[in-house]
Amino acid sequence: MLEQIRHIREEFERELRESADAKALEALRIKFLARKGLIAQLFEQLRTVPPDEKPGVGKALNELRSYAQSAYDEAIGQKKSRSADVRLDLTLPGRPKPVGTRHPITQTIEDLKRIFAGMGFGIAYGPDIEDDYHNFTALNFPPEHPARDMQDTFFISKNVLLRTHTSPVQIRVMKAQPPPVRVIIPGRVYRNEAVSARSHVIFHQIEALSVDRNVTFSELKGTLVSFVHQLYGSSVKYKFRPTFFPFTEPSADMYISCFICNQKGCPVCKYNGWLEILGAGMVHPNVLRHGGYDPRRYSGFAFGMGIERAALLRYGIDDIRLYFENDVRFLRQF
Ligand code: DAH
Repeated sequence: MLEQIRHIREEFERELRESADAKALEALRIKFLARKGLIAQLFEQLRTVPPDEKPGVGKALNELRSYAQSAYDEAIGQKKSRSADVRLDLTLPGRPKPVGTRHPITQTIEDLKRIFAGMGFGIAYGPDIEDDYHNFTALNFPPEHPARDMQDTFFISKNVLLRTHTSPVQIRVMKAQPPPVRVIIPGRVYRNEAVSARSHVIFHQIEALSVDRNVTFSELKGTLVSFVHQLYGSSVKYKFRPTFFPFTEPSADMYISCFICNQKGCPVCKYNGWLEILGAGMVHPNVLRHGGYDPRRYSGFAFGMGIERAALLRYGIDDIRLYFENDVRFLRQF
């Protein structure tokens, strides 16, 4: 009998240790301490114990019962007070939720939109999937122009392609509304090129088109200088250099002084102190005609720039591929 008492005590102790919650403690109480529990059963058996052993066994049993009861009470008390601890503490600081940021390209587009909105430009969009007519023909590309070559353009079929620039939207905007027109056109463009630190098959451009009576090159220049000062700061120097685009005449590339090295020479400006930032020009009469505008009555300017490049210069990023990898270690910095 004494042996049995020791056994039950050990069993009780073990199960008490393993009781993690109020539910387990309740099961423990029922098994050992309830009216028909194991300890009560031992008291039943006491009647069968020979009289001379009764006092010893009775004492051991009483000890077991009071030990088990107080150990159980204590455990219940602890559980209760622990659950009392987790009452709502309104003074605790909140757990911060991780907040995403806008992609640096999106941020740059937003800034460009804001700057041009301040100069009276609306916003227009066009399809990424274009036809040959809007991407090339209407923009005065001659039939054998090398830009139509398979090497630069992703063709979907003979006449359908992924636009290689945002300029086709110029035609769509003119077709959709009579002059005057003054819009910027942000969007994705596609080129079939080898991916490297400096070029990618997908990138973004922002296009501008302004057509009205008597729009002049000096208006184009004034617009661009104001834009550059707003985006890169008023101390930046600039220059225009004549160039060729089929859809503008005359045409120019705009350069700004390299603010990364202050024109001392660095890898970004290829050690010549100047950064090419956009192409521009007066809209070619043939382009106005394709848009349904009469070039004898209207003139206009247009320009287009790569957004990755603008963002690259702003943030000092040296690899265009970073924009498209969605590595949060990169994105988190903006
Ligand atoms: N479409 C040209 C390109 O992708 C950029 C450009 C140059 C756009 C001159 C224009 C412009 O509107 O006038 O390289």
